[in-house]
Amino acid sequence: MKNKKVNIVLNKIKLSINKIAKYEPGESENESIDGIKLSSNESPFLIPQTIKKKMQLNLNKLNLYPDGDCLILKKAISDRYKINFNQIICGNGSDDILSLIGLAFSKESCEIICNKYGFLYYPIIANAVGAKVVFSNKNSLIVDENDIVKKVSKKTNLVFLANPNNPTGLIVEKKRLVRMLKKIPPHVIVVIDGAYAEYVKEKGFSDGLELVKSFPNVVVTRTFSKIYAMAGLRLGWAYSSKEVISTLEKIRGPFNVNTIAQIAGAAMLKDENFLRKSIKHNEKWKSWLTNEINLLGFETQHSFANFILVKCNLKKFTAESLVSCLKKRKIFIRHMQSYGLKNYFRISVGKSSELKKLILSLKEIVKNE
Ligand SMILES: Cc1ncc(COP(=O)(O)O)c(C=O)c1O
Repeated sequence: MKNKKVNIVLNKIKLSINKIAKYEPGESENESIDGIKLSSNESPFLIPQTIKKKMQLNLNKLNLYPDGDCLILKKAISDRYKINFNQIICGNGSDDILSLIGLAFSKESCEIICNKYGFLYYPIIANAVGAKVVFSNKNSLIVDENDIVKKVSKKTNLVFLANPNNPTGLIVEKKRLVRMLKKIPPHVIVVIDGAYAEYVKEKGFSDGLELVKSFPNVVVTRTFSKIYAMAGLRLGWAYSSKEVISTLEKIRGPFNVNTIAQIAGAAMLKDENFLRKSIKHNEKWKSWLTNEINLLGFETQHSFANFILVKCNLKKFTAESLVSCLKKRKIFIRHMQSYGLKNYFRISVGKSSELKKLILSLKEIVKNE
């Protein structure tokens, strides 16, 4: 009887929600607590002590709701990136804002475009709002903006594009972005997800913030989960035209960003040393890791982010078997099966000691077979 009642409820939900495969994160913290976690592109650094002190001082305010408008945090973002305060929205991680964008700007009977080999949460959002997912760049890891333009139809109202892209680590340079935006109708919202933008030092790259002025349909999303080392606090933000931001402000949770995250985020943006240190570490150890992985006979491609995508082209191993061998040694990397890349895995640029242990283990595994 109870089951029957439950089924009646399930039959009433959007059919597209039944299609969703729940987002599976990189190996969970519990399993990797005494291991090495290189599966979710997090920072290898801890939040600096001075910022932790500020967070601690605010623990005795937790009986009160946070500032729903995140005023201090928005001011810090606006100062740091030289962007208009009124065109910023903050969220409980950038995935909070990505969901709001789907909710506000898409619906059943519409189409949402995202890369075939892109962040897994975009198709989840599309299915949650009942829109049809249209995949671009199905035949290549390289993001071809012309293919995105080709996929735009009368029904399209949203495009998700991560720059750099996860899991490939590749970028679309500014001139290609602009060319694409000029060809996309102005009523279509184009999300430029810059979760890894701070890592890119390439000359022709734009994080998209400067494009908002000419293209009011562009929404740039950013996160504190990667280079700013605050994945566990959940904090993200977005920048767009006033019209888009005020629409998103109407539907966000009234207190969607907690007090401690607001304090920590605002302080973190002022710590330029932390940013410099993180970029330097990433450059050095990403190229060391890529080199070592190539020496073992795997195939890698240049990544602009804080992770590398690896093709497992060794005869005796599959990506799955390697990931599970490493897991037994408490080293967690990400198998790319759920991204549709069966024989690939992705490794985050962790601490130097962690990467050295990973390479040592991989050498042993590969040699012993
Ligand atoms: C491209 C991309 N966008 C957004 C996110 C989500 O970040 P957040 O922790 O801010 O929700 C991730 C997380 O891995 C990501 O890879």
